[in-house]
Amino acid sequence: MERMNAMMIILLVILVFEGNYCERAFSTTVTYDSKALVIDGTRRILQSGSVHYPRTTPDVWPEIIRKAKEGGLDVIETYVFWNYHEPVRGEYYFEGRFDLVRFVKTVQDADLFVHLRIGPYACAEWNYGGFPVWLHFIPGIQFRTTNDLFKNEMKRFLAKIVNLMKDENLFASQGGPIILSQVENEYGNVEPAYGVGGVLYVKWAAETAVQLNTTVPWVMCAQGDAPDPIINTCNGFYCDRFSPNSPSKPKMWTENYCGWFLAFGNAVPYRPVEDLAFAVARFFETGGTFQNYYMYFGGTNFGRTAGGPLVATSYDYDAPIDEYGFIRQLKWGHLRDLHLAIKQCEEYLVHSNPIQISLGVNLEAHVYYRSSNDCAAFLANYGSTSDGTVKFNGNSYFLPAWSVSILPDCKNVIFNTAKVASQKTSGDDVFTHITMLESSLASSAWSWHKEKVGIWGNNSFEASRLLEQINTTKDTTDFLWYSTSINVDEKIKQNQTKELGLLIGSLGHAALVFVNKKLVGFGYGNHDDASFVLAEKISLQSGSNTLDVLSMMIGLQNYGPWFDIQGAGIYSVILTHLKNSKEDLSSAQWTYQVGLEGEFIGLDNISLANSSVWTQGSDMPINQSLIWYKAIFLAPEGKGPVSLNLSSMGKGQVWVNGQSIGRYWSTYLSPSTGCSESCDYRGTYDASKCLKKCGQSAQTLYHIPRFWLYSGENLLVILEELGGDPSKISLLTRNAQVICGHVSEADFPPVDTWKPQLGFISQTPELRLACEEGWKIAAIRFASFGTPGGYCGAFSQGGCHANVSSIVQQACIGKQRCSVPISTTKLGDPCLNVPKSLAIEALCSG
Ligand SMILES: *[C@@H]1O[C@H](CO)[C@@H](O)[C@H](O)[C@H]1NC(C)=O
Ligand SMILES: *[C@@H]1O[C@H](CO)[C@@H](O)[C@H](O)[C@H]1NC(C)=O
Ligand SMILES: *[C@@H]1O[C@H](CO)[C@@H](O)[C@H](O)[C@H]1NC(C)=O
Ligand SMILES: *[C@@H]1O[C@H](CO)[C@@H](O)[C@H](O)[C@H]1NC(C)=O
Ligand SMILES: *[C@@H]1O[C@H](CO)[C@@H](O)[C@H](O)[C@H]1NC(C)=O
Ligand SMILES: *[C@@H]1O[C@H](CO)[C@@H](O)[C@H](O)[C@H]1NC(C)=O
Ligand SMILES: *[C@@H]1O[C@H](CO)[C@@H](O)[C@H](O)[C@H]1NC(C)=O
Ligand SMILES: *[C@@H]1O[C@H](CO)[C@@H](O)[C@H](O)[C@H]1NC(C)=O
Ligand SMILES: *[C@@H]1O[C@H](CO)[C@@H](O)[C@H](O)[C@H]1NC(C)=O
Repeated sequence: MERMNAMMIILLVILVFEGNYCERAFSTTVTYDSKALVIDGTRRILQSGSVHYPRTTPDVWPEIIRKAKEGGLDVIETYVFWNYHEPVRGEYYFEGRFDLVRFVKTVQDADLFVHLRIGPYACAEWNYGGFPVWLHFIPGIQFRTTNDLFKNEMKRFLAKIVNLMKDENLFASQGGPIILSQVENEYGNVEPAYGVGGVLYVKWAAETAVQLNTTVPWVMCAQGDAPDPIINTCNGFYCDRFSPNSPSKPKMWTENYCGWFLAFGNAVPYRPVEDLAFAVARFFETGGTFQNYYMYFGGTNFGRTAGGPLVATSYDYDAPIDEYGFIRQLKWGHLRDLHLAIKQCEEYLVHSNPIQISLGVNLEAHVYYRSSNDCAAFLANYGSTSDGTVKFNGNSYFLPAWSVSILPDCKNVIFNTAKVASQKTSGDDVFTHITMLESSLASSAWSWHKEKVGIWGNNSFEASRLLEQINTTKDTTDFLWYSTSINVDEKIKQNQTKELGLLIGSLGHAALVFVNKKLVGFGYGNHDDASFVLAEKISLQSGSNTLDVLSMMIGLQNYGPWFDIQGAGIYSVILTHLKNSKEDLSSAQWTYQVGLEGEFIGLDNISLANSSVWTQGSDMPINQSLIWYKAIFLAPEGKGPVSLNLSSMGKGQVWVNGQSIGRYWSTYLSPSTGCSESCDYRGTYDASKCLKKCGQSAQTLYHIPRFWLYSGENLLVILEELGGDPSKISLLTRNAQVICGHVSEADFPPVDTWKPQLGFISQTPELRLACEEGWKIAAIRFASFGTPGGYCGAFSQGGCHANVSSIVQQACIGKQRCSVPISTTKLGDPCLNVPKSLAIEALCSG
């Protein structure tokens, strides 16, 4: 009997366990209808944000995702990066920054959903758009069209990822976080270039995806002909005018650009948050139900992951979370408040389609009814110049130009997209300024190694023509040497060759030219057109001369029709004698060497840190091309993020403890015009509208993840291609953070004007401050109650002033978060009957 019971208990345990497993107690169904994604039977309004797992280190994932959740996101979106997951055909890699399962589980741990864009084409300003370069060498293959060789590989990889997710129970129906996946990516933009093959390919891609039976909906973005049941979604700066290709599909927006990507040689793009918020509000106003920020956190293009040509190492994207993982105010806070306001309207938004009401020129309302007298409304002024006042529902509302007000009860405005920060009524009213602590590397002893010019190894090879670069290097390196010799007849020399012209044509992306091992020229293209022609005057000696051209790749193309067969490298070399005769060297005998000798011996590797290949002494070469440098540095104290200031360097690559930090190019200045001190957010935004750092280098600071640093000594290795001065390199860390808040009594209207159900407005007027997680308020630098003026970093005392420093200190010092009540009983009253505000500037430290 006893034994029987024990057996039964064991059986029961097994049954219960198996039952749970099979029934998947937390199983979620995801479908869609004409309005929205339907999760467990309920239509949802979802805010999503792009976070690409390899663009930061895994230790930071939970923190980024926590900040995304706190910022009001429901979904994290990522691409899947095929070229790093399958570096060699059939050999898979899912470790470290590429641990996709761990990333998805990290999102799950935060109780957020995942949109997995498997592609496998990613674009993403990622090397070769995420395609493995080996794919290019399958004879007969044609990418992204109805080509069996390509389709077989694509299907195999799609299945690999879907099965990996299924094996880990990561789809919603299995209790996992994935509610959506994507096949292909923005193919509609290039489809016409593929003719009928493209049309057939779209059908095939859709069928193939559906057959994989992920049990969650598939989307194809920017794909007007996406076959049912695949949802076609919008990508763009605005998507309010978008409608899907079938009335049975919801209106979804998969890429809403928070800024734009950065390229070497370009100014730095940014997007004002007032415009971003306007775009989002317009989308939900006009019936949209799913929106994704691209990027919510951009991060860094470490190693040679940057796409191209010439995509920079920073992928900051002016995102709400900056490249270093810090919250970017005012963007993050304003969008969080927008999400809260939209969330207030969720039940209305999913219930019905909006009724549009014109309120004047460029003025309109969209009203969502639940019943005849229960509604939520959006009031919009989509004119770019004139502010307006509208009458709606018996009340009058002021609408700044290019703004939307949100009224969850058709009466009270709880949010206007153009009112940022100082009008904030609740929440963490914080803007952040970052101070960096500089520590110089100048005192470190630098070592160096001079790279050989021209052919350096016994694995060189010859051809009597100019070879295309990607076909030759297979992208194992940025570098390819083209070497030849030029024989000069003594008589010709006497007559006419005192000065010659050398004309080199390249498909891209950059090239150093050496004659008789001396640098004579450097040519380069730009992001939009990486091809260039380099014309140099050279002189030759009689007899044999050497010509060595080092052609450089700066990220493989990632976008456009047939981008995969865009070539690179030298295509033409012509010697022009001064007396008009030409000599075409393009079909001379050329010797080729793939890569640099320093790469071959592994100078970036810590195992060579003490090797005799490094030279040390007082005669360090400065401002010379092709030098490797090495130094030991101590990690900056604290936990704050670290970056390297490479403004004294030219162009090259950098490694810390053997980890590649990425490419740098400090000397490539952006055009001197096109920037605006303060960009007017009003009016249609595009990627060239708001630029900063004109006439400067796109990027001088390079992120070193803390994860890759040791607490003591660390090895820094730099390959300088053009010429630089490493003694002027400095290391920076964020060891303090200035945060501010400025809130006025008027931001807190009498409680009884508010519907209790809104609950959005804090009923106790207060100013809240918050440091980054793990940081604490160390000092109060300014605290005035009265009529303070100025702005964060430069507040000033007004005519009415109570110095409340000691009250604020008491409430805040030593805390990560604190709040100070805005009340005359607590703070005193420096001027009766004058509307007062409280301004605080505080310092957080790590
Ligand atoms: C898809 O997967 C679900 C869950 O595993 C299963 O119940 C269903 O039968 C599958 N459908 C097809 C068409 O294979
Ligand atoms: C050249 O040959 C030697 C001996 O076979 C070999 O050890 C070395 O790695 C080769 N070097 C290059 C650059 O191929
Ligand atoms: C050198 O130049 C002279 C006059 O310009 C010309 O007559 C002669 O043929 C040239 N010699 C050679 C070897 O080109
Ligand atoms: C690369 O080589 C392939 C054949 O191996 C050829 O079809 C293709 O045109 C080459 N690409 C370029 C850009 O030259
Ligand atoms: C560094 O060198 C060691 C020893 O030669 C080798 O095992 C390791 O793979 C190298 N690391 C890299 C990243 O190449
Ligand atoms: C190089 O030498 C330093 C000092 O002697 C030592 O601490 C370090 O471990 C050595 N590094 C390697 C990779 O051998
Ligand atoms: C570096 O070299 C270049 C070309 O040789 C020269 O134009 C430049 O002025 C030099 N810069 C410094 C800082 O010496
Ligand atoms: C970077 O270093 C340069 C000197 O090489 C200096 O002028 C510049 O201010 C530094 N930038 C930052 C952000 O510290
Ligand atoms: C406020 O008082 C503190 C001392 O409590 C003083 O250090 C600070 O300078 C005063 N600030 C202003 C703006 O008066």
